[in-house]
Amino acid sequence: MSAPTLAVVAAGAMGAAVARRFTVAGCTVLTNLDGRSAATRARAVAAGMHDVPLPELAARADWVLSILPPSEALAFATRYRDAHVRAESKIRSAKVAFADCNAVSPETAKKIAVLFAGSGIGFVDAGIIGGPPRDGYDPVFYASAELEDAELLESFAGLSKWGLKVSPLTGEGVGVGDASALKMSYAGITKGLTGLCSTMILAAHASSPATAQALLNELNASQPAILQRITRTIPDMLPKAYRWVGEMKEISAFVGAGEGEIHQGLAHLYERVERSLKEEQEGGGGQDVKALRGFVDDAKKVIERSK
Ligand SMILES: NC(=O)c1ccc[n+]([C@@H]2O[C@H](COP(=O)([O-])OP(=O)(O)OC[C@H]3O[C@@H](n4cnc5c(N)ncnc54)[C@H](OP(=O)(O)O)[C@@H]3O)[C@@H](O)[C@H]2O)c1
Repeated sequence: MSAPTLAVVAAGAMGAAVARRFTVAGCTVLTNLDGRSAATRARAVAAGMHDVPLPELAARADWVLSILPPSEALAFATRYRDAHVRAESKIRSAKVAFADCNAVSPETAKKIAVLFAGSGIGFVDAGIIGGPPRDGYDPVFYASAELEDAELLESFAGLSKWGLKVSPLTGEGVGVGDASALKMSYAGITKGLTGLCSTMILAAHASSPATAQALLNELNASQPAILQRITRTIPDMLPKAYRWVGEMKEISAFVGAGEGEIHQGLAHLYERVERSLKEEQEGGGGQDVKALRGFVDDAKKVIERSK
């Protein structure tokens, strides 16, 4: 079986690691680096990706995997669709397919499906659960498609031959939007819990540092599993807070009016953390980030002492 030509946009933490899986398996992986940062360019080179103009990418790739900030998912799909339509028919791939792998709401996934309708582009909705692939570890790409696109979904699942761990969602009523709904539900719980813990630590700290210390001691005594989780998940969250803002907004839209305000509030929290990190990097206060890190450091000591 000859290795396919794939495209991964963009070469972020996840996209570059996925691309590396493919290139190691022998696939050609295209990307488009127009306007991208030096860090993204360096990751693309390290993963063995080829930088080509978008029309060439649209003409050559059998599958396009969109892996970029969720807020950019619809805009990129539109640019790709336009490039595909403009690509000369003689060089256009006979079967071209696009998988949106971003943490977007089912509504956004459905908007992308509508965008591609009648354009000759097959569409699979995918949601990644887990971190970037590394030695001995693979995240799961849950995927769903419309009933009439069962073959397309099978073809996406076939990328497992080239290193992608795919879990297709099948069953009555499953279609575009369901993989995204699964991702939203999972992330709404995991990232939601981290946001909720961070919110309450900051509120306790704002009341007084002694209150935060008492909260820590009480969690250790009565909710040790939650305190353990805080020591892992808050440090892991800090550098990703900027990306989680958009994700919380997508989750809020997925949940809908009323309870959707929970994740709207968490989007504010992650914005606050991102602002605080920037302040710190610019030599300013960064008090919120300092309070969260201080809480985690103290929690680790308290947990260690209680062993
Ligand atoms: N990382 C994870 O653990 C993880 C887990 C599950 C799902 N995901 C999903 O994967 C997606 C990407 O996450 P990530 O961690 O790879 O993010 P990331 O490390 O922040 O990378 C984002 C990449 O997208 C590029 N980019 C930004 N705006 C763009 C645009 N308008 N057009 C093309 N490229 C653009 C960025 O380039 P610049 O450097 O130039 O800004 C960067 O290379 C998200 O939807 C996320 O939900 C990630």
